[in-house]
Amino acid sequence: MGRRFLVALGSAALALSLAACSGEGAGSGGNTDSDKPGDLTIGVSMPTQTSERWIADGNAVKSKLEAKGYKVDLQYAGDDIPTQSQQVDQMITRGADVLVVAAIDGTALSSQLQAAADAKIPVIAYDRLIRGSKNVDFYVSFDNYKVGVAQATGLLVGLGLQNKDGSKGTAKGPFNIELFAGSLDDNNTQFFFGGAMETLKPFIDNGTLRVKSKQTTIEQVATLRWQQETAQKRMEDLLTSSYNDGSKVDGVLSPYDGISRGIITALQNAGYGSAAKKLPAVTGQDAEIASIKLINDGVQTCTVFKDTRLLAEQAVNAAEAFLQKKQPQANDTQTYNNGVKVVPAFLLPIVTVYKDDIKTALIDSGYWTAEEVAAGQAKK
Ligand code: GAL
Repeated sequence: MGRRFLVALGSAALALSLAACSGEGAGSGGNTDSDKPGDLTIGVSMPTQTSERWIADGNAVKSKLEAKGYKVDLQYAGDDIPTQSQQVDQMITRGADVLVVAAIDGTALSSQLQAAADAKIPVIAYDRLIRGSKNVDFYVSFDNYKVGVAQATGLLVGLGLQNKDGSKGTAKGPFNIELFAGSLDDNNTQFFFGGAMETLKPFIDNGTLRVKSKQTTIEQVATLRWQQETAQKRMEDLLTSSYNDGSKVDGVLSPYDGISRGIITALQNAGYGSAAKKLPAVTGQDAEIASIKLINDGVQTCTVFKDTRLLAEQAVNAAEAFLQKKQPQANDTQTYNNGVKVVPAFLLPIVTVYKDDIKTALIDSGYWTAEEVAAGQAKK
């Protein structure tokens, strides 16, 4: 455990020079061949606890690694970039053997990742790609472009322009819609919005869908840190600025369930949700329990379910491969260019969940119980 001793001294530079002498290849893992799981620590850096999905992700990665005998250093950064940088620095100095990182800002961790590379610690980007660094060794996520396509498709289905099976719906439009995107510093945001807009474009071009506010660029519709309150405020502003002439919003593209709840609250506060003023179709992502209840109650149209249990499993597989000095198995080696290199990735499939899919996709699979869905709250 020479490297661990060295990094415990707190000097990345010293670790660099001595690791270089030891002849270990980059990304080959900081552990030695004799390491047992109990001697190995995986640092897991998660962005925030305000969204239940990241809590589930953190817990799932931790418990799966611990079940295999590894030690886990799990930290949440409270959506604060300096806090995440500091936590990752600490994981490195405390002697992590692999890092699993879901970044708040995909471009803000370059110096930490350099320190990790200097100490021969492989880095796995978790769900969000880390950009602008050559020191990202692997990426585990879902097919993020398809998430955007699924969200736009959910909007079309909610409006009746398309059926769930992909066939043409009976509705004709024109419909008023508004667009929301995620946080611009999250690499996924471009993929979600890109996939969605490509799907909606023909309907916007032929006048079936009208973005009444005319806010259509990703910069105009982004939501910093994916915050529900920020989305609620923007929806309130849109209602005031673009719908004070008696017109109604028929659909809202939302990239994440927390944002959807902010949008829905703004709409309900403005009188939407009655027979005379129906709530618009609203999409989402993450199958958060509060939103599953809203879908079950007919308030939100759909969500994109990304099974965090499977993602955690892939992160664990990748970490274990690195610890065994192997390369993790990728199923995409082309899509995720982080600005410096294409990062090999393992992408998982997604499932769109409408009201009548809740039982099969979420309850039968054990993701949520029927009681949790009815209550809109996770059981502790
Ligand atoms: C994204 C992630 C989404 C959602 C969002 C807000 O990076 O892919 O599933 O969780 O962050 O937390």
